[in-house]
Amino acid sequence: MGYNILNSNEFADRLLKWYPENCRDLPWRETNDPYIIWLSEIILQQTRVAQGLPYFNTFLRQFPDVHRLAHAPISQIMRCWQGLGYYSRARNLHTCAQQIVSDWNGKFPDSYKDLLSLKGVGPYTAAAIASFAFGEQVAVVDGNVYRVLARYFGLKLDVSTHQGKKAFEALANQLIPASNPGMYNQAIMEFGALQCVPRSPDCPSCPLIGTCHAYATDEVAQLPVKSKKVKVKKRYFTYFHIRCKGYTVIRERGEGDIWQGLVDFPLDESNTPGQMDWEIGEQFTKINEFLPKSVEVFDTSYKHVLSHQMIFATFVQINLSDTDSEYLKEWADRRGYRLANTNELEALGKPILIAKYLIDCE
Ligand code: ADE
Repeated sequence: MGYNILNSNEFADRLLKWYPENCRDLPWRETNDPYIIWLSEIILQQTRVAQGLPYFNTFLRQFPDVHRLAHAPISQIMRCWQGLGYYSRARNLHTCAQQIVSDWNGKFPDSYKDLLSLKGVGPYTAAAIASFAFGEQVAVVDGNVYRVLARYFGLKLDVSTHQGKKAFEALANQLIPASNPGMYNQAIMEFGALQCVPRSPDCPSCPLIGTCHAYATDEVAQLPVKSKKVKVKKRYFTYFHIRCKGYTVIRERGEGDIWQGLVDFPLDESNTPGQMDWEIGEQFTKINEFLPKSVEVFDTSYKHVLSHQMIFATFVQINLSDTDSEYLKEWADRRGYRLANTNELEALGKPILIAKYLIDCE
């Protein structure tokens, strides 16, 4: 395999010694409640610890247990998730909570195998819950783990291939000790997050420096090997922010949409930047056909970077006079839009792009 398995005992022992001396004090580590662990892991798949903490606290405050989450309206969950992205995770969170209530009597299954049957719970999350909450000897394998193992053992298989993933998984499961596997899993992830970081790690302070393959061969910067580059698609949006008598025209994002369960505004989309040079007048006539005259039009540009796409958005703000309100309602209705008042708009989950714009435009 190209790595020195003789280092494995020392590897686990040193990590277990390093962990209590260096780990961060994080709320989900003070418990073995699977609900809390599950919630934290789903959130942490989306964001870093510092950004994830306020989301974790909000979720736990609003949904203190799996029953409350299962019975909550999806709109409340989407609003709490707002800004984390990958909104199918929030919908899966709800479905999974309902599954636990209806199929598991409100108690999380206590084995890796059964945890895998839950909606939105893949090998990583199942291993995290099984080991942290129930002490099962099953390795977590995330980006931190790939990096630590690739460097320490000099494992050069590509982590973006199926074969590479399987090899890392097998090595990780060979290394995990029978006693305290949960703490070992936390330790290796924390070691990757704090010590064996992606760029310019501080190797001289590392407790594994003496036996690290990558350090000895000067390959720290080259490992792990990751070949697949994500292709980023550019999209150009023009959003119409139409307001009348304290109401705003909104659209619910539908089935099969990455933003399903969120609301945004009527939207014009293009794959070419040419659209960005539009004449307000020309674009506006698309709406103006159906609407009486606007009072004011403003525009602002936003860039939003997602894992597979980059969105450039322009907002056209259209304020209508109070007398247009009945006509606007009809107009919105015909197009599958609806009107929301200020409080409702605030309470609904929105793509972060819309939320930012709403703060800026006030
Ligand atoms: N990232 C993913 N899971 C984590 C955890 N339990 N603690 C800290 N960072 C994490």
